[in-house]
Amino acid sequence: MPTLNFAVLAGDYIGPEVMDQALRVLDRLARLEGLSLAPVPADVGGAAIDRHGKALPESTLAVCQKADAILFGSVGGPKWEKLPPKEQPERAALLPLRKHFTLFANIRPGILYRELAGASPLKNERIPDGIDIVCIRELTGGLYFGLPKETTSLPDGDLRAVDTMVYRRSEIERILETAIASARSRRRRLCSVDKANVLETSVLWRKTATEYVARKAPDIELSHMYVDNAAMQLVRNPNQFDVIVTENMFGDILSDEMACVCGSLGMLSSASLGAGRNSLGLPFGLFEPAGGTAPDIAGKGIANPCAQILSAALMLRYSFGLEAPASRLEGAVRRAVSAGARTADIAFGGPSVGTAAMADAVIAQL
Ligand code: IPM
Ligand code: MG
Repeated sequence: MPTLNFAVLAGDYIGPEVMDQALRVLDRLARLEGLSLAPVPADVGGAAIDRHGKALPESTLAVCQKADAILFGSVGGPKWEKLPPKEQPERAALLPLRKHFTLFANIRPGILYRELAGASPLKNERIPDGIDIVCIRELTGGLYFGLPKETTSLPDGDLRAVDTMVYRRSEIERILETAIASARSRRRRLCSVDKANVLETSVLWRKTATEYVARKAPDIELSHMYVDNAAMQLVRNPNQFDVIVTENMFGDILSDEMACVCGSLGMLSSASLGAGRNSLGLPFGLFEPAGGTAPDIAGKGIANPCAQILSAALMLRYSFGLEAPASRLEGAVRRAVSAGARTADIAFGGPSVGTAAMADAVIAQL
């Protein structure tokens, strides 16, 4: 029986609440599919700051290193907001994990089920069939990690800060590879988003995308769009896109906008795939809900566990190569929602269930 070795980094506030339920659902799925689960929990984020003095302790990194994938909850919240920015849970846990495991490919599906169209701020007639797009964001380059990155005092007493946007052609090509694979599993349309009218990195990005797709993926229909226009098009008509591929900072912003047009953050999953291979020869990855720790609803048992469950499905697909169980899990979430199970975030004021009952509804559909 295949054993799934993965690290469980639940994090803060609603993180552990939705993680518990996702593990319960996974457990049931594993029994149905004849899989054996070997989750190893470790502290991360604010919880790790409280217990070990830092957001990503060495002991946690060691657990991740031994695993084939990381199932991640969410980190941060008001309790640690007074710390210096560099020590805050989000920055001090997520960014080093991305860097350490070279998690360069961030896959964020933008899915809105037809029956949840009311959760979107867009008028229903713009999205009669819901939304189904995906944003592929480069995650280890660009402004986030480029050097120099510093603040200096100038002789005249002024302060000067600099971040560096830098990309190599090889970094652009490897994220294009991920985007092409995604497009091939969908409608074969890829939109590369840049700011080539202003930025040098974007000129290289556009040229690389054009040449690479022509050479390696002539079956893919490639288009280019400036990022400001892409931001506008996402609210005008999100379904004009199939797969979006873009650099780190643009992807950070556009994926939040996409999450917003898709209604509730409680339904959106994500995968961050690494350059390295796990013990199965598949991409090592970190899988996390798109939303945050939601401190305002933490402890009430009302958070939506679907994003965490769907992130576990992505883990099965990408890091364990288990396409059928992954689809089965995604199908169960969809059917649970269709059958009327709703947490408060997707209930539009109607009757709603709590976190555990939502997970029960998914289990019932497995
Ligand atoms: C995200 C988040 C992170 C990012 C923050 C928490 C550092 O916004 O995953 O999109 O900017 O990448
Ligand atoms: Mg973000």
